[in-house]
Amino acid sequence: MRENFSNRFGVLVAVAGSAIGLGNLWRFPYIMGKHGGGAFILLYLLFVIVICLPIMYSEMVIGRRAQANAYGAFRRLAPGSLWTGAGVISILAPVVILGYYSVVGGWTLKYMQMALCGSFGRRENLDGLFGGFISSPGEPLLWHLGFLGLTALIVLGGIKNGIEKYSKILMPALFVMVILMAARAITLPGAGAGVEFLFRPDFSKLNGEVVLAAMGQAFFSLSLGMGAIITYGSYMKRKENIPRTSALVVATDTGFAILAGLAIMPAVFAFGIEPGQGPGLVFITVPKILAQLPLGGLFATVFFAILAVAALTSSISLLEVMTTFLSEEFRMGRKAAVAVSFGVIAVLGAVASLSFDPDMRLILFGKSAFDAMDYFASNILLPLGGLLIVLFTGWRMPRAELLEELSAGGGFRLGLFRAVRFLLRYVIPVAIAAILLGNVF
Ligand code: PHE
Repeated sequence: MRENFSNRFGVLVAVAGSAIGLGNLWRFPYIMGKHGGGAFILLYLLFVIVICLPIMYSEMVIGRRAQANAYGAFRRLAPGSLWTGAGVISILAPVVILGYYSVVGGWTLKYMQMALCGSFGRRENLDGLFGGFISSPGEPLLWHLGFLGLTALIVLGGIKNGIEKYSKILMPALFVMVILMAARAITLPGAGAGVEFLFRPDFSKLNGEVVLAAMGQAFFSLSLGMGAIITYGSYMKRKENIPRTSALVVATDTGFAILAGLAIMPAVFAFGIEPGQGPGLVFITVPKILAQLPLGGLFATVFFAILAVAALTSSISLLEVMTTFLSEEFRMGRKAAVAVSFGVIAVLGAVASLSFDPDMRLILFGKSAFDAMDYFASNILLPLGGLLIVLFTGWRMPRAELLEELSAGGGFRLGLFRAVRFLLRYVIPVAIAAILLGNVF
């Protein structure tokens, strides 16, 4: 007997917990900053609605229909080589992603500790603080292992109930904090240029690379194109309504990302930080915004603590994919499965983390190992996974089955169903393929 989520709210918290994380608060601002702001955001919104929402439907449908891990799901629903490929991507992508995700998760823990010790107040030069920390070889490695260890403990101990319980309080709290920071950031002198950067799209900045980055970010932020939502879908009960759940998660996740942009970008411009400077953007900017608020140190501690929790509810969904796969396909005990996953990801993360050390810098395809892993996973593996997934629900799955899954627990209007199926069969595959190919040639 497979486990099920307890109720509708439990499903929502778990899926939203997977979606909302570092992707919204750390990755979205810096990728958007790197790719020019407003025009990137418009593209991102377009991809979220037209490409990603139907993919989320598809992944939940596949998982619930198959009642199996992300690899087994394809094998069970459609034995055959192409679809096994989709299964392989579903397992490979989360391994690569968790490799560097847990490095950034480690940074959030370190920043929480520093805020707690009042380090931000005493340091004038926060840019140097971040650069110095990530480029030292030992310390970030330990925090990465610590974060990964926490993730493993939660997946093992099934404290998931606990996580569910706390998430209900912590996620709204994070929302309130980000609103507060946005309010502070927007009212800083010189913030106007940042608001303009967000909302006045400059279409001359668009090119193939930007389009690919926006699509990759949409997949990453919504946890799509790989096994996470398929695995969670397999724990959903029949009476759960897939379109409604998906729409709620997509709306919340996107709202979070835009708010994060509103909190970060105006401050970036007000403080004269370079918007395209890369993965350190949030870690450098947030302590500076909070230093402008009364009780800034306390706020900073709370902010990074909650960010760490948001990251954990995402990282457990990544680790869960590999664990369920190993335990179902190789008949491993859950403990052994978690241990094996931990080992593989610990090593990958070490490579990513050490790539910031100038002496050990590992360069792959002209990028640091960290950037290469992120680029490969988000911009190539996830869209490729998404492509196979829509081909599966659009062409391979019988229409009646798809309709049945989408209407369970509430019904789905036939006109809407036709539109979604049209997107799945034609629009989405052509769009993804064109964007991917456009970047190769
Ligand atoms: N969506 C998560 C975030 O935004 C990251 C993630 C990606 C989780 C892919 C699962 C799968 O932080």
